[in-house]
Amino acid sequence: MYEPGNVLMVCLGNICRSPLAQGVFKKMSKKFNIEVDSAGVANYHSGYPPDKRSIYIAKKNGIDISMQKARQINLGDFKKFDYVFVMDKQNLHNVKDFTSNYKTNSIIRLLNDPYEIEDPYYGNEEGFEIVYDKIYQSCKRVLNNWK
Ligand code: 4NP
Repeated sequence: MYEPGNVLMVCLGNICRSPLAQGVFKKMSKKFNIEVDSAGVANYHSGYPPDKRSIYIAKKNGIDISMQKARQINLGDFKKFDYVFVMDKQNLHNVKDFTSNYKTNSIIRLLNDPYEIEDPYYGNEEGFEIVYDKIYQSCKRVLNNWK
């Protein structure tokens, strides 16, 4: 957790939480020459832009995520990304299950370890504010640990 590396942010749909996390981490990690991306455990929303509420809260904080397109995780991600940060325990379970027969050196962790960043999809805008704050604090914590 102390060396800079490529980061993949993962949630369920890749339209609410992980696109925000991608945008926040990308902006914060500019001085490191790393790749930052996001993906979903599920493929329901593949090809779609982030949820309007995520685009809005990102924009409010000076980050444009509107060009992102949702995609599903694939095994290649576990070669390319040194860190795979997931949002909740279900994501963690799914990702570990997905890679159970695959040899990977990726560090797979809850982004807000040991806490979850809960799915805001069925909630209101306030839920997205909470998600943004948790993502922001978590990303800062990760970067503070990097040399
Ligand atoms: P996300 O939120 O995992 O943060 O992108 C969700 C988006 C869509 C659904 C669930 C969670 N869905 O069930 O469609």
